[in-house]
Order: sequence, then C-alpha cells, then structure tokens
Amino acid sequence: MDKLRITGGRPLEGEVRISGAKNAALPIMCAALLTARPLSLANVPRLRDVRTMAKLLGQIGVEADERADGSMVLATSAIREPVAPYELVKTMRASVLVLGPLLARCGQARVSLPGGCAIGSRPVDQHLKGLQAMGATIAIEHGYMNARAERLRGARIVMDLVTVTGTENLMLAASLAEGTTVLENAAREPEVVDLARCLAAMGAHIEGAGSSVIRIEGVRSLSGAAHRVIPDRIETGTFLAAAAAAGGRVRLSGAAPDSLDATLGKLREAGATISTQPDAIEIEMAGRANAVSLRTAPYPGFATDMQAQFMALAATARGTAMITETIFDNRFQHALELQRLGADITLRGDTAVVKGVERLQGAKVMATDLRASAGLVIAGLVAQGETLVDRIYHLDRGYEALERKLGALGARIQRVK
Ligand code: EPU
Repeated sequence: MDKLRITGGRPLEGEVRISGAKNAALPIMCAALLTARPLSLANVPRLRDVRTMAKLLGQIGVEADERADGSMVLATSAIREPVAPYELVKTMRASVLVLGPLLARCGQARVSLPGGCAIGSRPVDQHLKGLQAMGATIAIEHGYMNARAERLRGARIVMDLVTVTGTENLMLAASLAEGTTVLENAAREPEVVDLARCLAAMGAHIEGAGSSVIRIEGVRSLSGAAHRVIPDRIETGTFLAAAAAAGGRVRLSGAAPDSLDATLGKLREAGATISTQPDAIEIEMAGRANAVSLRTAPYPGFATDMQAQFMALAATARGTAMITETIFDNRFQHALELQRLGADITLRGDTAVVKGVERLQGAKVMATDLRASAGLVIAGLVAQGETLVDRIYHLDRGYEALERKLGALGARIQRVK
C-alpha cells in the first residue's frame, strides 16, 4: 500500500494549477444518464473517484471516453443495467447519484444502500423522500433500494436538512419529470450550481440554483451539451491552509476565489495576506498563524471538507482554537492522529479544543478519510523530521497529483510503495 513520506520544515513557494472539482464532476457525470446524446466535459479531475464513477456508469451502459487533457465524453445510447452494486457503492457514496437520473430515464433503478462511513452516519432518507414525493415506489430489499416509477411527477419537496447530493439527485430526476418540482431548503453549494448549469445547457429548465429554493420545470427529453467543470474549491483551500501552516508565498491559478469566502476570511484572521484575481489566489504567510475558531455549516458557511486542514493549521498556531463540526457526527478521527504528531487537542462532543504548540514532531500516522488525510499531510509539512502517512488511497480519491503539486512548491514529499 502506498504511503507518503514528508520531511517537514520548509516554507512553500511557487505556483500550482487547481484541478476541476471532484464534487461537481461526479454529479455532472451522472447527468449523462438523462440523454442519449453525448455529454462533453472539460476540466474533469483525474482521480480515483472519477474513475470509479466512470466504471459504475460503464456497467449501467454509459460509454465514457476519458482523455489525458482532462476532457471526457459520456454517451448513453441505452441503459443496459440500471444497477449500482454494493461493491462500488461501498467504495464511493456518490454512487447513489445514479438513482434519480435512472428513475427519470428508464423508470427503474436498483442501488445498494451505502451503509456506514468513516465520517459519520450518512443516511439517504432525504433522497428517497423526495423521489417518493415525485411518485416513485421504493422498497429496501436485501441491502438494495429497488425503485420504480412510470413517469416521475413534479412535486413540492421541503427537505428536512440541507443535503448536497440529495439536492443534486432530485434536480437530476426532476429535469425529466412531468411538471414542476420545487426543492425547498435546497443546498446552495457551488457544485449544485455547476450541475444546474450543465443541465441547463442540456435543455433543462432550472431556476434558483445557488439559493435555497430551486424550481425545475421538467422537459420530455434532454440533449447533449459541452460543459466545463468548476475549479475545486476544497483542493484550493487545502493548498491555502498548507501555505498558511508552512509559511511562504503561493499562487493558485485556475481557481475560483468567489467560492471560498469563508475559507479566505478565516485565513486572513489567521494572519495570512491574501489577494485574489478572477481566477487566481495568492497567499503569503510569515511566522506563526493566529489561532482561529470555526464552526462548519452548509455553504456559504465554513465547509466541513476544510475542517481537518484547519485543525492541522490550528495545531501550531498561537493561541487556542475551538473547532466545531456540525455536519457529520464522526469527523474528528484526524484529531487522534494529529495528537501522535504532538498536537494538543481535546475533544468535547462536537468541538475540538486545539491549543497551538510551537512544534509538531514527525511520526507515522494513518489516514482515515479523504480530508483527514489532507490535514495529516499539512501537519507533516510543518512537523520536525519525518512523517509517514499511511493509507493514502484516501487522498488519491480526491486530490489530483497532490505530492507532485506540493513538491513543485518546494515541499519534501515522496510517495513510497
Ligand atoms: N443527511 C441525512 N439524510 C440524507 C442526506 C444527508 O440525514 O438523506 C445528513 C448527512 O448524514 C449529513 C448531512 O445531512 O449529516 C449533510 O450531508 P450531505 O448529504 O450534504 O453530504 P453528501 O451529499 O453525502 C457531499 C460531499 C461531501 C461533503 C458533504 C457536505 C459529494 C460527492 N460529497 O456529501 O464531500 O462533505 O457534501 O458538504 O458532493 C469529500 O469530498 O471529502 C466529501 C465527504
């Protein structure tokens, strides 16, 4: 199993190009299920989750042609098997995003229930509730959701909580439903907006994406389209947090500063100097960061996907940071690993109290999920001596060429077999 060997203590200097957003690319790939015409995507990140989604879609009947330049053409002339098997869903929960489009396109779907997850219990009841309101019948049998619908009908759906993939699944389904669907308490994440833009290019009628009420007028059929995936705001935030922790001066090109207000605000509070251009961000950090407290929240609040990276930053900051996780109920596993590097962290329910220490010391640590791994890499960059991060297959799911990009900024980081 691959590991990352990091020798800490060097500031980061230079420029890195940001990849396309994983969490935008995955639902957008599923939009290809809604049409027989080709969907042509640009800026698709080269990641394991994208390959897993291509494999899943391939089994369903989608031909996916991924090119080295980050473009991908998906074509679904026919649905062969409307099934998402356990073997794929258990490795990537976003697989559940095929449920809505399959029901809309061919009136049936069989999707494995996702089950447990390293960051907390993650039910899909809101996806099901919405699809049922649109006329689907769904039975849970032998670990699978067996769903059927003649033709989905538009409905007014008030979601009990803000769910990103739940909103996306229902938007995908509603695009081909009969009549108008109104999603209330919808997620406002930029990835939801990007999916809406792609669907609109395919001929869907969607209003309000980016606000908490989304209105979708169903159409009979959708066409192909060309769409460019937005830059990955979490990859961007991860490099920014790394630069804030390690110090130095970094420019991130091909980024979307508009989608990062909460992260940029916290980095400024930590003492970083940040300047933005329409598609680039520069950060400069000298000396130790100030401790910044934060509370995760749905967009435009502080992203839960940035929480681990900011805990790593807080670990060597001046002062005490209170980090509260409100989205997932078990997303502090990195805290225990950070303690192995010498961090002073006390967990009190949904809050981590992080007392900054002057120095971390390199050690062997284990990654538990994607963003936790990113937090450990950041800690490794500032720790004295060598840190070995195990189980980095988590990182490969969601960061394109992380060690190459950090290496280009001067970090001493190496993948070992
Ligand atoms: N929830 C329910 N019922 C549902 C759906 C969600 O109770 O039917 C709860 C979840 O258990 C959680 C909260 O609602 O407590 C929010 O979950 P959400 O559904 O928004 O998460 P998700 O759609 O499964 C996406 C991202 C995650 C990111 C979260 C929150 C994708 C593919 N995944 O997950 O990304 O953390 O939104 O922003 O878009 C990552 O990239 O590392 C990652 C985990």
